[in-house]
Amino acid sequence: MQEYEIGLYGLGVMGSSLAKNMIQHGFDVALYSKPEAERAAFRVEAPLGRYEVFPTEEAFVHSLSQPRVIFLMVTAGKAVDAVIGQLLPYLEPEDVIIDGGNSHFEDTARRGAALAEQGIQYLGVGVSGGELGALYGPSMMVGGNYEGWIRCREILQSIAAQVDGEPCCEYVGQAGAGHYVKMVHNGIEYAILQLLADTYHILSQGMGLPQEEIAAIFAGWKDGPLRSYLIDISIDVLRKRDEDGQFLLPKILDSAQQKGTGSWTMMESITRGVYAPTIAEAVYARFFSQEKATRSLGRKIGELSPVRKVFSVENIGGKLENALYCAMVCCYAQGMEIIRKASADFGWNINLENAANLWRGGCIIRSDLLEPIAKAFHRPQDCPNLVLSKEFAPALAQKEADWREIVGRCIIHGLAVPALSSTLTYYDSCHTDPMPVGLIQGLRDCFGAHTYRRTDREGDFHTNWQE
Ligand code: 6PG
Repeated sequence: MQEYEIGLYGLGVMGSSLAKNMIQHGFDVALYSKPEAERAAFRVEAPLGRYEVFPTEEAFVHSLSQPRVIFLMVTAGKAVDAVIGQLLPYLEPEDVIIDGGNSHFEDTARRGAALAEQGIQYLGVGVSGGELGALYGPSMMVGGNYEGWIRCREILQSIAAQVDGEPCCEYVGQAGAGHYVKMVHNGIEYAILQLLADTYHILSQGMGLPQEEIAAIFAGWKDGPLRSYLIDISIDVLRKRDEDGQFLLPKILDSAQQKGTGSWTMMESITRGVYAPTIAEAVYARFFSQEKATRSLGRKIGELSPVRKVFSVENIGGKLENALYCAMVCCYAQGMEIIRKASADFGWNINLENAANLWRGGCIIRSDLLEPIAKAFHRPQDCPNLVLSKEFAPALAQKEADWREIVGRCIIHGLAVPALSSTLTYYDSCHTDPMPVGLIQGLRDCFGAHTYRRTDREGDFHTNWQE
């Protein structure tokens, strides 16, 4: 029997793209997928490495050179436990299992600990970049067993996206750290998507601009400070026409779906006590978009036309570009602070500069901003928050007036832009000292004797406020 260097389990869209990527990089890959149709459909033209699709899990595992490396690309959740359970009888100590799905980091930590008892080295790897990323070079955030990582590092780094000769694939920390960083990547993804949606809302509903003009405004940002994958594909989506020649975007129902990683990030921000309003608003906006009937009734009661055409702003493209720049920096800032806090709480020791570098290529949130972000975290102790860093503070100060003007006009005219406006509050809060929460402390102490601390004396104090 031929011996394969790596096994890939799960030949859905992402799994088969990753498998093709490995084979085209010259690796010898054994393949398996439960659905027979997926096994039958898999084919690579002119492969550089060898591959074979096996009919059973047992034959698949036995075709691998030892110690074995098996990459799982199956739907996150129960399926991962089920597949591990099916493979386990054929595995031996020192074999490596890699979970490349969007698993919850706690599941990954639990699986890693259970498998370690049997000597299996488990890695939870966040893979970003969608189908094309998987095929041509994803970003991969690796967590879990360090020895396991060393064993499969070469394969993973060679198939990853490369930026300036550096692979966008690195070990970030123990246990669920890799999936944690991927989860936060997705939280930032949600936040930026909502910022882009707010921007579209201003131009379409707020100003009534024709779709061509909106697309042209986005296209004007393509090679400027907002240069990023999400701006690039926004232009494609804005310009796409339906079979009848009309623009497709206005025909899409205004009801956004989600699979959960954004909510996980939001809930984690709460668990860690990290202020991340843009991520939270982005998740809420998707939920509230489902409440079509409520929103339609609201529009009727308010006697508002669907297209508001409420305001005009001189040089809207330039001003929105500045507003988006500021708000996007804040999205990355929120994500990085969640990672920083989790790393401290779990003792993962995540290098924030590395984490930012991993997102420079291959992933959904790749953008030109990530290079200065990585730089800002070279000495993380000098960067309490990205918006205050020397890499960003001056540019933000120079651009923030446009952001204020746009959000201010939206507020005056009743145009909801949840991400742009909540992010501005985030930015302002980062510059607020003192916050007015002394009053909250006073009230808590008044109604519940919860005590408060003072600026002029040490200790906890209680006052009889209504005496
Ligand atoms: C990626 C994406 C990917 C997926 C999101 C979508 O990094 O390649 O983030 O993981 O597209 O999970 O999530 P929603 O369906 O929740 O928007």
